[in-house]
Amino acid sequence: MEEKYYALLNYGCQMNESDTEHYAGQLEELGYKAIADFHNADVIIVNTCCVRESAEKKIAGKIGELKAVKTKNPDVVICVAGCMAQKDGDKLIKKHPQVDLLLGTAYVNDFKQILLDYLAERGSKRRTRVYDDLTIHQSEFEGKMVRQSKFEAWIPIMYGCNNFCTYCIVPYVRGRERSRSMENIVAEIEAAVADGYKEFTLLGQNVNSYGKDFGEKDAFAKLLRRVNEIPGVDRIHYMTSHPRDMSEEVIKAVAECEHICENFHVPFQSGSTEILRRMNRGYSREKYLELIALIRKYVPNCTITTDIIVGFPGETEADFEDTLNLVKEVGFDAAFTFIYSKRSGTPAAKMDNQVPLDVKKARLNRLMEAQNINSLKCNEKLIGQVVEVLAEGPSKNKDVWNGRTRTGKLVLWPLEGKTYQAGDKVYVKIDTAQTWLVKGKAVDNG
Ligand code: SAH
Ligand code: SF4
Ligand code: F3S
Repeated sequence: MEEKYYALLNYGCQMNESDTEHYAGQLEELGYKAIADFHNADVIIVNTCCVRESAEKKIAGKIGELKAVKTKNPDVVICVAGCMAQKDGDKLIKKHPQVDLLLGTAYVNDFKQILLDYLAERGSKRRTRVYDDLTIHQSEFEGKMVRQSKFEAWIPIMYGCNNFCTYCIVPYVRGRERSRSMENIVAEIEAAVADGYKEFTLLGQNVNSYGKDFGEKDAFAKLLRRVNEIPGVDRIHYMTSHPRDMSEEVIKAVAECEHICENFHVPFQSGSTEILRRMNRGYSREKYLELIALIRKYVPNCTITTDIIVGFPGETEADFEDTLNLVKEVGFDAAFTFIYSKRSGTPAAKMDNQVPLDVKKARLNRLMEAQNINSLKCNEKLIGQVVEVLAEGPSKNKDVWNGRTRTGKLVLWPLEGKTYQAGDKVYVKIDTAQTWLVKGKAVDNG
């Protein structure tokens, strides 16, 4: 039989990366093999994101490129999946008639069957579109998965979001919160450990809400403690935490469990209580600072990272300065900073006083400048320390390897005649700090 190939073009967050690993697994179950160049593939999946306009523009350009691929090879199956497919539905097909299959965000585990049905009916039926149901529960997935990394695994623990922050499209394209059962999550992690995985990231839009749909109290803290006990699990990360729902129980679990890494990613979005209210975030600047103090009380050596939006509608210079001051006050290790992007269908898109782009850009620059100073300061604290690194691979200079600390910091060290494999644990004594990374030399033990 002739070989068949698939190509995956993934955009967006870790949730999408995880979904893409599920698509890859199902395609391999059908006998397809991965190919890097999508021009030579029989099935192409574009897994899309629509969280900001910039992401959508880039992806629309890529889907546009596939028109020529379809003209050259009319048999290729072009599938658009993910959040943009969910949001735009038939409109997307109208705009890009080269698309054969449109797959909403809740159908990930049904993909194999949907593709087989499509191929069987091809000719009589030009296209398949499935995106109307956002309530499908993906909990009991038992098929194959092709993970990108050989030692680090994404583990979805819940799907969807109930928060409806007024700027955000995610609740509309991912549906309501659905938690996976603890047994199912533990079984997936145990199977991954048996395959050699060591590092696990528990994924959800709001992991602190895990289990609320079962009516269970403190379910996320219980899940963390349970995963910590699985033999062979070395590092546990989780994202994303919502400051309103982050509980003392979760912070205690991080403090007490050996394998849960001591990084707290707590997006604050804005330092102005008035903007936070209009964002529907459910906490004030003061409450956020109390949370940071609580985290530092239980886990003094932790790192703290965040997400920030500048230029939310009505954001004044004073509001922005509240954000800037909060960044300086907390001294985050890293921050993902975004210019507010109008998402039609969300409440903020209809708000008055949209901030002009040049003002937003200038604020973003000032914010990044302040954060870069923080990042460098935090990294400088590592100088002279020996850090535990999981090796990832060679850097651009092949004589230098890179890897990450437990808190996710990028570390570079020279090979000095040694050989490493991805996933090796290496102890590195840090001698140089930069804004985005630290450097040092491998030493014998920790
Ligand atoms: N559920 C996660 C991640 C959501 S998307 C959370 O609540 O943190 C990741 C980040 O994108 C958000 O934290 C926010 O900072 C940013 N974001 C979401 N919608 C946006 C918009 N319309 N414009 C700009 N940034 C946005
Ligand atoms: Fe979007 Fe808010 Fe949900 Fe995060 S918590 S996905 S920002 S609505
Ligand atoms: Fe993007 Fe969807 Fe993730 S909109 S950020 S891919 S949930």
